Amino acid sequence: MGFASVNGIVVPAEEARVSVLDNGFAFGDSVYEVLRTYGGLAFEPGRHFRRLRASADRLGFSVPASDADLLAQADALLARAGTGESYIRIIVSRGLGDCSYSFEKVQGPTVVMIQKPLPPYPAWHYEDGIKIAAVGVRRNHPRALDPAIKSSNLLNNILAMREAQSRGAEEPVLLNQEGFLAEGASTNVFLVRGGTLFTPPLSAGILAGITREVVLELLPGLGIPFGERPLQLDELVSADEAFMTSTTREVVPVRQVDEARVGSGRPGPLTRRVMEAFGAYAPAHCGQLALTAAATPSDRTTG
Ligand code: PDD
Repeated sequence: MGFASVNGIVVPAEEARVSVLDNGFAFGDSVYEVLRTYGGLAFEPGRHFRRLRASADRLGFSVPASDADLLAQADALLARAGTGESYIRIIVSRGLGDCSYSFEKVQGPTVVMIQKPLPPYPAWHYEDGIKIAAVGVRRNHPRALDPAIKSSNLLNNILAMREAQSRGAEEPVLLNQEGFLAEGASTNVFLVRGGTLFTPPLSAGILAGITREVVLELLPGLGIPFGERPLQLDELVSADEAFMTSTTREVVPVRQVDEARVGSGRPGPLTRRVMEAFGAYAPAHCGQLALTAAATPSDRTTG
C-alpha cells in the first residue's frame, strides 16, 4: 500500500496509527492536501502547503512545521517508496482530544502523511473523455462549511460521488445553493463556449484548486480568452468543450454530462491545448518550494 508517517515517524502505511481520541478521527476536525509526484518529486509543494495552512487557519489551528520541514517529511516517505509516481495525502488534525468541544485540552496538532503508488488513469479518460453526472446533492454552503477549507469532512463529496457512480459516471458535478455550477467531488470544472474558456469564480463556493490556478495562469500565454463567472448547468451541457481539473486527474476532458454529449463528444481543440500546456508545465515544477508562484487573485476576467 505504501508508507505513512505520523508526526514524522515513517512506517509501512498499514502499521501507522492515530489515537481514537484524535479530533481528526472523533470529530472530522482536520484539514488535508493531496499532492502527487512527477519523476518522483512532489508537484508544487509550496502551493499545497500554503493552502493547507489557510485551511488550518480557518479552523483555528496551525500546521506545526515549516514548509521546508513538511517537504522533508514528504521526501522521507518518497525515499522509502522507490521508483514510480506517488500520491501523498497530508492530513493535519487539531490533535489528541477527549471527545469534547474543549479545544483547550487538545494536544496537537497531529501531522499524518500517507504515500501510495499513483498509477495513471486509463488512457481512454484522456483520449475519449469521461462521463460526469449532474447530481442532486448541492455543494456545502460557504456559510455552513466553506468548500474553500480543504477539510476532511468529505461527506458532501462522498454523497455526490456515490450518486455519480450509481449513474455510471466517473465524477459528479455539483451545483451551489443558488443553482450555479460549483465543482466536482474532487475536481474543478471548465467549459468552452464560442472560443472562450469559462470556470466558476471562487465566490461560487468552491475549492481554489491548484490545477485550476495553474491552468488559469497558463491561458494568457496560450492566447486563450477566459473568464471566471457564475455558470448555469445548461451552459455546461450545451458547451462546445468541457474538462475537469485536479492534482491526480490533471486536465481530463468531459465527453458527456449524464446522457447529453458535450460538443462533438470528443476532446476539443482548446481542451487539447490546455492538456498539452499543463503536461509540459507539471514536470518542470516539482520538488522545490522556491519554484512555486505567488497566490493568484480570486475572481478575474480577461480576454
Ligand atoms: N481533490 N475540488 C475539490 C472539492 C477537491 O477536493 C479537489 C482536490 C479539487 C482540485 O484541486 P487540486 O487541483 O488542487 O487538486 C477541486 C484532491 C485531488 C483529492 O481530494 O483527492
